[in-house]
Amino acid sequence: MNQQLIENPIIKLAGITFSYPGALPVLKDLDFTLSDGDRIGMIAPNGSGKTTLFHIIMGLLKPTAGRIEIFGQRVAEEEDFVAVRRRIGLLFQDADDQLFSPTVLEDVAFGPLNLGKSKEEAIAISRKTLSFLGLEGFEDRITIRLSGGEKRLVSLATVLAMEPRAMLLDEPSAGLDEATKNRLIDILKNLDISYVIVSHEFDFLSEITDTIYTLQNGRIQVDTAAHPHEHVHAHPYGRHPHKHQ
Ligand SMILES: Nc1ncnc2c1ncn2[C@@H]1O[C@H](COP(=O)(O)OP(=O)(O)O)[C@@H](O)[C@H]1O
Ligand SMILES: [Mg+2]
Repeated sequence: MNQQLIENPIIKLAGITFSYPGALPVLKDLDFTLSDGDRIGMIAPNGSGKTTLFHIIMGLLKPTAGRIEIFGQRVAEEEDFVAVRRRIGLLFQDADDQLFSPTVLEDVAFGPLNLGKSKEEAIAISRKTLSFLGLEGFEDRITIRLSGGEKRLVSLATVLAMEPRAMLLDEPSAGLDEATKNRLIDILKNLDISYVIVSHEFDFLSEITDTIYTLQNGRIQVDTAAHPHEHVHAHPYGRHPHKHQ
């Protein structure tokens, strides 16, 4: 077989260990792989290291031990991660860490401009992305005045406008009302991008991911916890909406 046809994983972590200064390790000898087409969910308690893990993949934090490969290439230095950040998008847990321009259009166009697109191209991509997210007419809105849900969707626009090969989404459903959450579910279902999504909501994750992991004792584990939940739904051919437990 032609070696060129064998795809490398998008993200491969091996033996990653990380501690914040003066603290016990948050991640301990952690292994993780995201392959092309994977849609992975991660559900774990606060403080278990999910955000830390994402920041390590993006090169915002440096592991104390271990190996990171992106598209089969080892990455270690800041210049390597500059390239990583052009191909893998991070949706920050806090939208205020993502949005920093006065207006929505400037925020969304920032990434494409940074990738070397012309001003016209960057604006065209930004408009197309905003429209895909149902945010037509938001171009000139003042970013800091947006609602929490709007900020989340605009943050997602800034990530998608860079046409990433993969995305890391850090609690994208947190604080969203049901309507916005359902919109986000529809958007994610219609994307052809590999991703890892952190969330506390099992139902949300199970709709948009194929595999759900947890992060325990500093390592990724298969999620074996029971997630008691109930669905309320109306059958199209039934007159009476009812519950299944
Ligand atoms: N900048 C920091 N300095 C010191 N400790 C931190 C810092 N950020 C996070 N931590 C600690 O590291 C652990 C993991 O945090 P985090 O990755 O944010 O967890 P999660 O995203 O799963 O809630 C927590 O105990 C947290 O208090
Ligand atoms: Mg977090």
